[in-house]
Amino acid sequence: MSTGKPARAARLDELRETFGDRQVAEGERKREVNDLFDRIAPRYDLMNDLMSFGTHRMWKAVTVREALRQLDGKTGPLVDLAGGTGDLALAIKEREPTRQVIVADASAGMLEQARQRGGDGLNYLHADAEALPLEDGTAAAITLAFGLRNMTDPAGALRECARILAPGGSLVLLEFSRPAAWFAPFYGLHSRWVIPALGALVARDKGAYTYLVDSIRRFPAAGDITRELEGAGFHVTRTRPFMFGVAMLHVAEVT
Ligand SMILES: C[S@@+](CC[C@H](N)C(=O)[O-])C[C@H]1O[C@@H](n2cnc3c(N)ncnc32)[C@H](O)[C@@H]1O
Repeated sequence: MSTGKPARAARLDELRETFGDRQVAEGERKREVNDLFDRIAPRYDLMNDLMSFGTHRMWKAVTVREALRQLDGKTGPLVDLAGGTGDLALAIKEREPTRQVIVADASAGMLEQARQRGGDGLNYLHADAEALPLEDGTAAAITLAFGLRNMTDPAGALRECARILAPGGSLVLLEFSRPAAWFAPFYGLHSRWVIPALGALVARDKGAYTYLVDSIRRFPAAGDITRELEGAGFHVTRTRPFMFGVAMLHVAEVT
């Protein structure tokens, strides 16, 4: 059922039975999200560059810097959760070649792209973020870029992050957020017209990119994400907005 232009959620649990602007059963959300990323995987990186005019690279460079800072002096693997085509994981591995870097993702198609890019240098884990086959308290840090809003149970995934992190370990979370009021109309035009048109032309999948825009609209604002992180067992140590709040970096240490 379509709900029209989706309203921004206040809690992550409100996303569990949605897919873009539709209400769906939880199992259907999982299937639809997986199919979508399997479909768009070969064009995913090109689309990111086109949609963001390359700015996502700068946001990710800051995320990598922050992850390296969090890893400093710690042993144990870095998990790039919902790591997609592996760009963050590879950037971290290049700077810390002796660190085990695991790309974990629910989409076999996205992981295959990561494998082609990262070869033997990275480890690959085909798994749901809500139930990771990793021991308690073992990861030195987790990066999670643009993945949280797509998860079947995003609040459960945050609790799972807290479970696998070693004491003092950090989650470095990059996600879309709510842009400043003056910038919102410009961003709204870009989201409404440019992104679906690029999706149709380049990825030949307008529906997938309409979903991405709707999922961004629905995703809770930064203050609500801070509350969710605290509810999952984290203490937020740093936030940093990008492009007038279009995206937000949260750095959160497990308590
Ligand atoms: C927008 S992409 C982000 C990929 C990459 N981190 C980046 O920044 O480009 C979202 C990723 O989340 C993954 N994903 C969605 N639901 C997931 C889940 N429940 N568990 C693990 N990964 C999931 C998708 O397969 C996809 O690769």
